[in-house]
Amino acid sequence: MDAIQIYGGNCLHGQVRIQGSKNAVLPILAAALLIDGVCEIENCPAISDVYHMLRLMESLCCTIDRNGHTVRVDAAGVSRCDMPPDSVGVMRSSIMLLGALLARTGSVSMQYPGGCVIGSRPIDLHLEGLRKMGVVIREREDGFDAETKGLTGAVHRLPIVSVGATENLVLAAVLANGNTVIENAAKEPEITALCDFLIKAGAKIEGVGTKRLCIRGVEKLHEVSYKVPADRIVAGTYLAACLCCGGEVFLKGAPCMQMKAVSAAAASMGAGIEESKEGIAVTCIERRVMPPGLITACYPGFPTDLQSAFLAAMTLADGEGVLEETIFENRFRIVPQLRQMGARIDCQKNKVCVSGVRTLCGTTLRAEELRGGAALVIAGCAAQGRSVVKNRHFIERGYEDICHDLCSLGARCKKE
Ligand code: EPZ
Repeated sequence: MDAIQIYGGNCLHGQVRIQGSKNAVLPILAAALLIDGVCEIENCPAISDVYHMLRLMESLCCTIDRNGHTVRVDAAGVSRCDMPPDSVGVMRSSIMLLGALLARTGSVSMQYPGGCVIGSRPIDLHLEGLRKMGVVIREREDGFDAETKGLTGAVHRLPIVSVGATENLVLAAVLANGNTVIENAAKEPEITALCDFLIKAGAKIEGVGTKRLCIRGVEKLHEVSYKVPADRIVAGTYLAACLCCGGEVFLKGAPCMQMKAVSAAAASMGAGIEESKEGIAVTCIERRVMPPGLITACYPGFPTDLQSAFLAAMTLADGEGVLEETIFENRFRIVPQLRQMGARIDCQKNKVCVSGVRTLCGTTLRAEELRGGAALVIAGCAAQGRSVVKNRHFIERGYEDICHDLCSLGARCKKE
């Protein structure tokens, strides 16, 4: 079955190694297309989104070799410019390839990447920015054809902060003719990792980590090897698991500096947080209390990708609390299922009001998307009795092996 079975009620104790970052490695794999040669990418997480991205790249005549967590990409042969629809449909992140492919081949034909349950996920900012860089885009019913005689630098003032649009425009700009400025750029650590990779390969990028990126186009990038940073969202998920279940865990390799808002939210709920260069030690002995108003925001604010996991933790905290989602329009999909477990949650548009309960009861649950599915698993670990979370494949998009990781902390869960 495509499910996870959990017997909840255990406190968590032990240490878990944090995998490489999904949202860093996907744009870095796209960036490998820009290099007419071989890139070696270490600490690449074994997750299905990476598998689909690599298959997509092979369909574009890249040669891919995987050896454990190291992926070798030879993009010397990149030629085809139409991505197989079935791969694009599965791989929303295929849009990441657009900027790089245009820079490399000058033309791309692809389906619109699907939205998902958390939001419509439009790509208007991506297409608008590329048009400003000399790309002619003919939209079709189910997709578009994009052509350019050569990308030229441009000044972009993004009306809203968009991680994907920032990444696509960086990828289009590094080999463009002239200079590009991206104002109101996203500052997520995954963009910093992408820029670090590109600079290591010879790109000229200034303002890394700020909301203003200045890119001077260069002729060529050279071969490079790069180690993917740890996944702050996976680390935050297991931190939330400790908030849910209580106990003492060590998140080995967790990127502390990138998790300040997450650690602060956990501390405001009564967790003890101890940061070191080896990772984050989390201690939850006393019952948790509600955070004083949790609002998702662009980096360095509290990440939308941990909203569901912290909502699960809030259902078991003492008192009343409010959680507000400001990035996506439909990211409270797990509320009805948490209610089925006994949670008391009142939903008002992009806010939820939570009244903490003493216990949750295990039941049959259904993942509908990646981060909500992971949140249901950690809620099941805290609940009394047996839970089954169906649609495990959603969770495997971003977690190498959530069952193994949680079992190493003393939870009782297994793939079904
Ligand atoms: C990235 O998605 C992440 N995905 C998401 O993580 C993350 O939740 C999101 O950034 C926000 O941090 C990857 O990196 C692969 P956006 P992305 O463009 O780039 C609107 C996960 O679970 N928008 O920053 O798609 C959009 O609708 C995933 O790992 C436009 O209006 O997010 C949203 O409301 C989920 N037009 C807001 O911007 C556009 O052209 C932020 O989206 C693009 C975006």
